[in-house]
Amino acid sequence: MHRWKPEFGLIQETLLLTLHARALDAKLPSPILGDTLSAELADNIDYDFHKLKVKPNLVVTTALRAKKLDDVVRAYIAAHPECVVLDLGCGLDTRVFRCDPPPNVNWYDIDFPEVVSLRSECLPSRSHLIAADLTHPGWLETIPGDRPAVIIAEGLFPFMPGGSFQQMTRELTSHFPSGELALNGYTRFAAWAMKYHPTIKTLGIKAAQGFDDPHEPESCGAGLELVKEEMLTRAPEVARFPQPLRALTRLTARSTALARHGARLLRYQF
Ligand SMILES: C[S@@+](CC[C@H](N)C(=O)[O-])C[C@H]1O[C@@H](n2cnc3c(N)ncnc32)[C@H](O)[C@@H]1O
Repeated sequence: MHRWKPEFGLIQETLLLTLHARALDAKLPSPILGDTLSAELADNIDYDFHKLKVKPNLVVTTALRAKKLDDVVRAYIAAHPECVVLDLGCGLDTRVFRCDPPPNVNWYDIDFPEVVSLRSECLPSRSHLIAADLTHPGWLETIPGDRPAVIIAEGLFPFMPGGSFQQMTRELTSHFPSGELALNGYTRFAAWAMKYHPTIKTLGIKAAQGFDDPHEPESCGAGLELVKEEMLTRAPEVARFPQPLRALTRLTARSTALARHGARLLRYQF
């Protein structure tokens, strides 16, 4: 059987972490996301996933945030059956297969050229692939701007330097007539603490960014309006977390400040 060997830089390598976490979730007796395609794909990637030392917490939170973001996409498509979907920093995520959009939806998966190149080899063609560095303007030109758009940025914000995420967001919201942007929003503390996480340390990532106030992106000049801040520690799926993680998660969920530092999902409309 052919196995693909990724040749990535540090930032690109983070996509193997999220892929691995989804694959591990799919192999649990009671998975949260249950993405068996991710499990199959990870089995075919020639990479030492064990070195990432992924713990149950990372498995369930990654699976849960992916599930919630899938729900955002599905709901948007149901309300706007001819929309555009953008998965920014898509990595090897199989979201397009999980959401299985109808033919009138235009789905774009965007990541660095080396990621898109691997993606096109190891996953069936199901979306438009755009090879681009999102910090450079111009990549939006090939995407029609006359339809509403749902834009997903999962695991991307912490790794975009300086104000480049804000700049990209301004370009996105002026390109489309209306839409929704959904992302997992790390707090400043969570982003700072990330570099001490054993998995992130293994990858060698030394800096990540976050923001505390969910309203902060509203002031970046992109016309965003916060629709919802959702603390994933309060999601019903926590009932499927293994113990003692479930009990600990429920404990932190009681305090909004603590819950914010855990996984949270932010949705904005424009
Ligand atoms: C943590 S991974 C998440 C991947 C995917 N969204 C997932 O959940 O599996 C971050 C992704 O963002 C991509 N990325 C980071 N900075 C980027 C940039 N400036 N341009 C394009 N892609 C970027 C990386 O290559 C990587 O695939």
